[in-house]
This record gives sequence, C-alpha cells and structure tokens, in this order.
Amino acid sequence: MSSVRILAIESSCDDTSAAVIVDGKVLSNYICTQKVHEQYGGVVPELASRDHQKNIVPVVEVAMKQANISWNEIDAVACTTAPGLIGSLLIGVSFAKGLALSLNKPLIAVNHMKAHVMANFLNEEMPAFPFLCLTVSGGHTQIVLVKDYLDMEVIGETTDDAAGEAFDKTAKILGLPYPGGPLIDKYAVGGDPKRFKFPEPKIPGYDFSFSGLKTAILYFIQEQTALNPNFVQENLKDICASIQERIVSILMNKLKKAAKETGVSTIAIAGGVSANSGLRWAANDLARRHRWKLHIPEFQYCTDNAGMIAIAAHHLYLKNEFAPLNVAASSRAH
Ligand code: KG4
Ligand code: ZN
Repeated sequence: MSSVRILAIESSCDDTSAAVIVDGKVLSNYICTQKVHEQYGGVVPELASRDHQKNIVPVVEVAMKQANISWNEIDAVACTTAPGLIGSLLIGVSFAKGLALSLNKPLIAVNHMKAHVMANFLNEEMPAFPFLCLTVSGGHTQIVLVKDYLDMEVIGETTDDAAGEAFDKTAKILGLPYPGGPLIDKYAVGGDPKRFKFPEPKIPGYDFSFSGLKTAILYFIQEQTALNPNFVQENLKDICASIQERIVSILMNKLKKAAKETGVSTIAIAGGVSANSGLRWAANDLARRHRWKLHIPEFQYCTDNAGMIAIAAHHLYLKNEFAPLNVAASSRAH
C-alpha cells in the first residue's frame, strides 16, 4: 500500500496548529499559542477566532515547510470539527474545506476529545486494547474505555468544571495569570502538598466534580487573607502543592476505581492537564503499585496540537471515513 500523507488542522480553542503525518509518523507539528487571553484571565472567544484567522495561513505554511512536503503529495486534509468554541472551530473547518476543495482531496472530520486519546498512538510504544484513558483538559474531564482506534466509550465525566478549569480558576483566585495550570505546577515544586487540606467531593461512579473544591479554596484564601494580607505570597508554594495534590488525588482515585472494577489493566492519560508533573508522577506511581501498564503522550502532544488530530485522521483515512464538504462544526461533542 502506498503511503498515507495527511495535513491536519486544529483550532478548537486558543491554539492554532497544523501538522503533517505520513503513515502515522509526525513530520511536523507547529503550534501557535495565542497570548492575547492572558490579560483577561481566560479565553475570550471573539479574540480567539480573530487570532485564528490571522494565524491559520502562516501556521499551515510552516507545517508544510517543516515537513518538506508539497501540496500535491497530500492525500487528505483533516480538521477538528467538534467540540470547541464555535467561532474558533469555524476558522479551521472553513480553511480545511477550502484547501480540500482546491487540492481535490478528501476531507476528514476529527473529534477533539478522541484525538486527545489518540495522542497516545504517537508514542513509539502504543497502548494495547482495551485501555482506560483519563482525558483531562481545559474543557473536559473524562474516563474513556478505548476498545479500538476511535472506538471509545465515555464511562465517567465531570458534572461541572473540568480539571483544567479547576487549576485555572484556583490559580486566578491566587492572582496568577491565565492559563494558571502550568503555573500551579511550577510553584508546587518544593511546596508541602500536605500543608493545607482541601475537600474531596463524594460523587458516585466514575464521574467527577470540581466546583465544590474551587469554592472551598476561594473561601479559605479569603479567610486567610483577611487575617494576613500577604498570606498567598508567603505561602504560594505550599498552597499550589496542596491544590495540585487534591486535584490529582481526585483524578487518580477515580481512575484507580475504574481500572479495578473493569479489570482493564492498561491505563493512559491525555489532554492538557496530563502535562502536569504531579499527575504524571501519581499515574506512574499508581501503575507501578498495581503492575498496570501506563501510557502518557509526549509533552508536545498533551496540550492542544494538530499532531493528535493527524493521528486520529490517519485511522479514519484507513477506514475510508471521509466527511462531506458541507460538514458542520459543532461546539458540542457529537
Ligand atoms: O487540552 P488543552 O490544551 O486544551 C483544551 O482542550 O482545553 O488543555 C488546556 C488545559 C488548561 O486548563 C491548562 O491550564 C491545563 O490544560 N494545563 C495544565 C498544565 N499544562 C496545561 N494544568 C496543570 N498543570 C500543567 N502543567
Ligand atoms: Zn484539548
């Protein structure tokens, strides 16, 4: 069989990214992260789509150049169609449609959440089926039973905030800029994770809840700051380590429960929050203690990137699953 060469585009939130993949091997994965949102404490949808519009052409050009590939060598054009911010998605989807039409090549529609899971197939050592994937990002928190490439069943998810939001919103309470997740991770290093005890929600099954934790942290910080206005600055490392410890333990306890009860002994983590060093350490520790096999994507494939869209598209291509040129973008997962 001849090679499969795909150009993939990701624009579901605030990263504009393009990647070229050949037979499942990433030749380029260029990511342009929008800085404009930092000052607003979160992603501003209107500004995100405007930046995607500015970035999409140069980002795709860089990805093609880095891959050292010409337009007529591309076999298909892929893009994220759901879920995400609708204005952001529409830029990538419209661009991909135009490109597919002008190149006379098929279009492949990729679900962003499935693509986060598929990032695990970009590693040299790939997970064996079935496996459980904890997908943790700024918009989603799911435990997914992965039965085959792209054949996935969500067995648990958040009932309110996502894990990434829990990081970002508590970071905002501490006065840290957006996105606060990586900053909590950074300041947690060397902090005492047992110093402050935050509550663990009691949610049945494999579902999650983070809004109660966020409120508990908000009240705690308000109380302590009333007593000592410099409380956050003086205790930043311990506060960050304690917040991270609790978010990670909530995630790990549910993943452990799911693995024990389903009997699935291969586990994986994916999504932006899987870049968190505390989560990576805890997942390694959990797997080692239970003799489970653990897979974690490389750093560059954890947060939003087109490489993961490309590997998902590769498997859709092999199944001849192409999208019509009038395929719609959707803010919700379909
Ligand atoms: O997957 P992603 O890039 O975008 C979405 O699909 O949402 O995830 C972004 C989320 C943000 O909430 C960000 O704060 C979080 O991932 N994140 C982290 C770390 N790196 C990214 N959270 C904690 N620790 C990190 N090192
Ligand atoms: Zn994502």
